[in-house]
Formats: sequence, C-alpha cells, structure tokens
Amino acid sequence: MIVTDVGLLKFAQVIRKFLLTKSTLNLAMNAVVVYFSRTGNTKQLAQAIADTAKAPLLELTQAEPAKVAAYDLLIFGTPVEGASPTKEALAYVQSLSTVTGKKAILFCTYKLFGNERAMKAVEKELSTKGYETILRVSKKGMKPGEADFSKVIKEVKSALEKY
Ligand SMILES: Cc1cc2nc3c(=O)[nH]c(=O)nc-3n(C[C@H](O)[C@H](O)[C@H](O)COP(=O)(O)O)c2cc1C
Repeated sequence: MIVTDVGLLKFAQVIRKFLLTKSTLNLAMNAVVVYFSRTGNTKQLAQAIADTAKAPLLELTQAEPAKVAAYDLLIFGTPVEGASPTKEALAYVQSLSTVTGKKAILFCTYKLFGNERAMKAVEKELSTKGYETILRVSKKGMKPGEADFSKVIKEVKSALEKY
C-alpha cells in the first residue's frame, strides 16, 4: 500500500514537471496582446510578441475592456509620444475594468528618449486597476520595415517562462 502511494506520488511529480515545461506553460497561459500604433512600428512589435506568447493580438479599439479582464496576463504596447504613452493608450488603460491577481507586460517603441517614463506612466495606471507589471520592454529607433525584435523577444520569453 505504501509502495503504491509512493508510486502515485512519483507519477504526480512527473506530471507536474511536464505541465511546468516551457512550451506547455506558454500554451496554458491565458494572455492577450493589446496595442496602439500610429505609424505601424508598435504594431509590428506587437505581432512579434503575440507570436511568441501564442496570444491573440488586438488593436485597442477592438479590445473591449470587459473581454480583456478575462485574461490573466495583459501584454500592452504603445509608442512613446512626448516622453509619454500616447493619449489613446493612456485613455484605454484608464477605461479598463478593475481586476485582482492579474499581471501585465508593457512594451513600447520610441525614437530617442522617454521610454521608461512612458511605460512607468502606463504601469501606474494599470496598478490602480489591479495589474502587477512583471516586465517593461522597449524597442528603440526602428527604421521603416525593420523587424529585428530579438532582444525584446528574448526578454518577453524569459518573463513568460517565469510567469
Ligand atoms: C507626435 C509624436 C511624438 C513623439 N515623441 C517621441 C518622444 O518623446 N520620444 C521618442 O523617443 N520618440 C518619440 N516619437 C517617435 C515614436 O515614438 C516612434 O517613431 C514610434 O516607434 C512610433 O510608433 P508607431 O509607429 O507604433 O506609432 C514621437 C512620434 C510622434 C509622432
């Protein structure tokens, strides 16, 4: 009987380990990517992040706050304008429902400066809605058509693995 119990315990541990592997973790994760983009840069990055996270991708006008509240992880992106998030992105975050126990990953694209300031502003708003930000990532100085997001994607992957 004791042997059987030990066997069962070992089996349960193996199953648990399997469920916690990287690939299944990503699949099990309930994440959504929501973004605003004025000229396309942030949209490109949002697409790459959504592919990595295997998450649905929504431009913010398509992302109803009530639906977004159903996801455990909100991955949210904005361009930097005037060292701030865009007014559209900030207004959207302010319109979100209040949640408990949800996480957020923030991303932005920018030309020169203000990325940390902009994301901190988003983080602050999201925290008033109950979201804990687990990562802020930015992509600097994109050129038209550029799609080398490897550094940002690496950071996102690492956060998703720990999540
Ligand atoms: C009105 C405006 C203000 C901007 N302000 C900043 C800024 O303060 N700092 C910065 O680094 N880039 C700034 N930028 C550049 C954008 O952040 C950058 O080009 C971004 O990648 C655009 O993203 P999008 O193509 O998704 O709109 C500004 C761009 C615009 C149009």
